[in-house]
Amino acid sequence: MIIVNEQEKVFHLNNGRISYLFYVMESGQLGHLYFGKALTQKGSYLHMVEKVHRPMTTYITEGDLYTSYEHLRQEYPCYGTSDYRYPAMEIQGGDGSRICKLEYQRYRIINGKKLLPGLPATYVEDESEASTVEIVMRDSKYALEVVFSYSIFRDFDAIARSVQLVNHGKEALLVNRAMSMSIDFPDAAFQSVQLSGAWARERYVHVRDLQPGITAVSSMRGNSSHQHNPFLALKRKNTTEQSGEAYGFSLIYSGNFLAQAEVDNYQVLRVMLGINPFGFQWKLDAAANFTTPEAVMVYSNAGLNGMSQQFHRLYQNRLVRGYWRDRERPVLINNWEATQFDYVEEDLIRFATKAKECDIELFVLDDGWFGARNDDKRGLGDWKANTQKLPNGIEGLSKRIEALGMKFGLWFEPEMVNKDSDFFRMHPDYIIATPERSVSHGRNQFVLDFSRREVVDAIYEQMYTLLSKAKISYIKWDMNRSISECYSKAYHSDQQGEIFHRYILGVYDLHERLIQAFPSLLIESCASGGGRFDAGMLYYAPQGWVSDDSDAIERLKIQYGTSLVYPLSCMGAHVSACPNEQVGRQTPLETRGNVAFTGAFGYELDLNKLSVNEIETVKKQVAFYKENRNFIAKSDFYRLCSPFETNFAAWEAVAPDGKRALVTVTRILSEINGPYRRLPLCGLLPEQQYHIKSQYLSYNAYGDELMQYGMILEDKSSGQIIDGSGGCQDFRSVLYEITAV
Ligand code: DGJ
Repeated sequence: MIIVNEQEKVFHLNNGRISYLFYVMESGQLGHLYFGKALTQKGSYLHMVEKVHRPMTTYITEGDLYTSYEHLRQEYPCYGTSDYRYPAMEIQGGDGSRICKLEYQRYRIINGKKLLPGLPATYVEDESEASTVEIVMRDSKYALEVVFSYSIFRDFDAIARSVQLVNHGKEALLVNRAMSMSIDFPDAAFQSVQLSGAWARERYVHVRDLQPGITAVSSMRGNSSHQHNPFLALKRKNTTEQSGEAYGFSLIYSGNFLAQAEVDNYQVLRVMLGINPFGFQWKLDAAANFTTPEAVMVYSNAGLNGMSQQFHRLYQNRLVRGYWRDRERPVLINNWEATQFDYVEEDLIRFATKAKECDIELFVLDDGWFGARNDDKRGLGDWKANTQKLPNGIEGLSKRIEALGMKFGLWFEPEMVNKDSDFFRMHPDYIIATPERSVSHGRNQFVLDFSRREVVDAIYEQMYTLLSKAKISYIKWDMNRSISECYSKAYHSDQQGEIFHRYILGVYDLHERLIQAFPSLLIESCASGGGRFDAGMLYYAPQGWVSDDSDAIERLKIQYGTSLVYPLSCMGAHVSACPNEQVGRQTPLETRGNVAFTGAFGYELDLNKLSVNEIETVKKQVAFYKENRNFIAKSDFYRLCSPFETNFAAWEAVAPDGKRALVTVTRILSEINGPYRRLPLCGLLPEQQYHIKSQYLSYNAYGDELMQYGMILEDKSSGQIIDGSGGCQDFRSVLYEITAV
């Protein structure tokens, strides 16, 4: 999959569907040639290097009025030598200079793909699944070696990149900026697509026309954030969900990031992704090395859905790992929205008993079970049961839950502490705080300094003890505030720019240790909902709580946006009570179920409060999900109709062989006397006959008709979604099962 033209030093990564081409310039730097649909391998590509003389330009070599880094498309631009766009790397030497000049040394091709030390990354299970080329570069003044790693996958239209820096010199260097990837596209006729929002409205889809200058999203909060996801896509103006070119860039990282597109004044587009350089500085001691997080670049000429499907397949199969990767996820019930902090053991038993009656498989005890945790002002850090609430401790409670025939799961917020806790009283110096400055709080809590090994150890020991004694099959790992006054007492003044990154390495380390100790433990990540819902977490936690907003109508947008990158199996999606806790909305129970089915399904309410009819519906929902969860998790997902643009949200999960599909159509507000509506489906076999079945609808049609003419959605006479109810109702949702006859 990697072809090298030794003479011209052109590297062609090609898996038959995508090509990525770069070369070594005369000056020794790496130049970018092409990324997109696979190109036929040919002798030479160097004619693709475009350079013209342009006034007011700084040239590299005296006498040469053509060669300027400003006008050459580069692979990984460094600061300071004739390129005035933002660089991918900036290194500060002992003499204070910040110029770095990387020159090509050699390359190495590796079958398969390496893992990254201490960092999440995509992986292969056998060497034939990917090929990797490592390009070794060197700055001779600093004796700095920089290794660019590019892996192309056989089965996914994706390229994974990371960069390793090794200081072979005698003095320390300061890494001010080291992005994970950079690419210079030959044209800028793109729109950028980003996933941005806030608490309870995470990952909304925003599309912008690129203009000269910078378009960027980032985080400086220590977590990847509710505000912006570590992802950026490019699409052509006429690209739709189903057709046209789209490029996706996703960072496998959970801390501060920057995703940036820069259009220069010659319509060249530079895209880069990596750790946010703002607030970052890494002291690279002599003989030390530093590895950037991995960035994944996807190309699709089948629209945004095509891009998403590549991410889904790669992340589901070769980023998520371990025991739960291919296993059916348990239907869970979580007590948070039902009880908050206010419960005792018998309440929980009643709660779980009813859940068992509905065939729910896992009971998750949320916040409030430990220390003096009766509200959010105390207790974090004391990971021992509050015996006033739980007289038999977690051990006793978990045994009782298992005796009911359910698995038991438990909430933790390992990275945080309240000042009112024994842990803080014992270790007041374990929090992130800047000397002689006040420390800000978030939700009355403070951030433990996970850049320090002894802090992570102390939390690990508490968690390990509990997990080894009690019957805990699942943990919900929460994180409810961002970092402020970032500083670690354990590090020297010239290493304070490392703390954000070291913190997240500590978070990964704790995850890794728990996974190694308890391989079948299912971890669900959470950060006040979706504040750290990123590809980095998926390596440790195969599912994540998408948002604290559990209202089905709000979830249409949140799940629609999340699906741009992340697979359905990783989206924690629950049916909650009405009126909804966050928005006060009343929605039909069917709609709540239908929306949550296309995720890791569960409940977030007290079933004892439902009517007999509602319990019957819940039982049917649980049975339906169990029957379909394997199919849904492994399906190809298509977004059909956007809740950002229309009064509908529609999506489709199709079996990879095209023989089955599940279509969810939700009409947000009721309409009266509306137009005829059809919904063109995707991914079916054109010549296959299918049976279409919804609650009240049943007919047969061929795949071509369903994809061209569309599936009939509405009752011609009333303009309603066909559901037999006859009346108008807001927030109606219908599930259509499409099965090959
Ligand atoms: C925030 C989470 O997102 C909620 O689901 C819940 O676990 C609370 N924290 C508990 O404090």
